[in-house]
Amino acid sequence: MIISKALALAPALLAAAATTASPFRGPVNHHAHDANASAPAPARTVYQFANGTWVENVAVRPNGNLLVTLLAPHPDLYEIDPSTDPASATLVRRFAGYANLLGIAEARPDIFALVAANSSVRGSHAVWTADFNGDEASGPEVAKAADVPEAVLLNGLAALPGGGAVLVSDTWQGNVRRVGLRDGKVDVVLEDVATMAPPPNASALGINGVRFSEADGFLYYVNSYKQLVARVEVDEASGEAVGPFEVLVSGVFGDDFALGRGGGVAYVAEGWREDVVRVELRAGGEKEVVVGGLHETTVAGATSAAWGRRKGVDEGVLYVTTCGAQEVPVNGTYTEGGKIVAVDVGSWR
Ligand SMILES: *[C@@H]1O[C@H](CO)[C@@H](O)[C@H](O)[C@H]1NC(C)=O
Ligand SMILES: *[C@@H]1O[C@H](CO)[C@@H](O)[C@H](O)[C@H]1NC(C)=O
Ligand SMILES: *[C@@H]1O[C@H](CO)[C@@H](O)[C@H](O)[C@H]1NC(C)=O
Ligand SMILES: *[C@@H]1O[C@H](CO)[C@@H](O)[C@H](O)[C@H]1NC(C)=O
Ligand SMILES: *[C@@H]1O[C@H](CO)[C@@H](O)[C@H](O)[C@H]1NC(C)=O
Repeated sequence: MIISKALALAPALLAAAATTASPFRGPVNHHAHDANASAPAPARTVYQFANGTWVENVAVRPNGNLLVTLLAPHPDLYEIDPSTDPASATLVRRFAGYANLLGIAEARPDIFALVAANSSVRGSHAVWTADFNGDEASGPEVAKAADVPEAVLLNGLAALPGGGAVLVSDTWQGNVRRVGLRDGKVDVVLEDVATMAPPPNASALGINGVRFSEADGFLYYVNSYKQLVARVEVDEASGEAVGPFEVLVSGVFGDDFALGRGGGVAYVAEGWREDVVRVELRAGGEKEVVVGGLHETTVAGATSAAWGRRKGVDEGVLYVTTCGAQEVPVNGTYTEGGKIVAVDVGSWR
């Protein structure tokens, strides 16, 4: 997520932004390739929600349809078929009893885990599952996997292999919990002040997006206000660290992200900078803007990204979600409805 309006922390956050990397103050030096930035990847809006809608995260079903979670105005899970133009969005489920939906990931084939919460309220956070394997017409079977009563702000969610558990970041506490989807067991398994905590003395966001890479066994993550992309190797079953917490790249003002299919890179939504950056996942890796920019609306307020899954059709397409620049209005004033943007990374690189 970027920052929930529900958190009502605007003054502290704006103060933090002023001292860190507000795009409208201080030096703008976030494009590693500013001197000769390449042309942006081709992009088209797949679907735009009404003004005031904050699209928070995205996962893609095996059939290629997009599942998006809304942080505002309602705790809604929508399904969007990107093959039609214009696309339509179908409300899958409103999670009554919560205010916001956050991270989402596929845990087992066509079974998705997601975070539902009153995002600023301790005791209100939970992980739910939505199982789409049944009759398509009757919608998914939805169930609560676990309450996470100690959480302060559950945010990003990544599936561990095997489908038995997910890892969920807590942006305020600076840790990661393993949540068992079958047994409902919840444990803090990763905690690192340097790379996961928010900056000291600031009501700002720490660890945010998380993605597990089956290719190398690392959990990759971003720390928003520390502007880090980091990783730690984890045990696939327990989620516990089996290696050091490593900072890979700094200067990335990241939210959620997608790992590159071939490994080695991540495509990070930088909602505060109205863009998506490609980041090489090695120490001191290069970063390069893929699409968007401070004065542009193309992916303004980017919150997350996921790859298309229709073979031979959109596997090179990155579906980027946005909050409509609600947190950092473009040029200081412009906001719009959150949307889903198809970014053709395949034809760009
Ligand atoms: C980037 O710009 C420099 C000079 O400013 C030039 O030498 C270099 O070839 C350019 N690189 C690309 C990839 O265009
Ligand atoms: C979320 O807040 C609403 C309104 O205060 C309340 O009715 C609901 O019980 C809360 N949900 C949880 C899970 O705490
Ligand atoms: C953070 O707050 C503590 C307690 O108020 C203070 O001692 C410390 O100097 C502060 N650190 C920074 C970096 O401002
Ligand atoms: C933002 O400002 C730039 C430079 O003045 C302008 O080109 C652009 O159209 C503006 N964008 C919006 C959404 O207002
Ligand atoms: C969206 O709503 C905000 C707040 O009411 C308003 O300032 C803005 O102009 C609206 N944007 C569009 C594109 O209608």
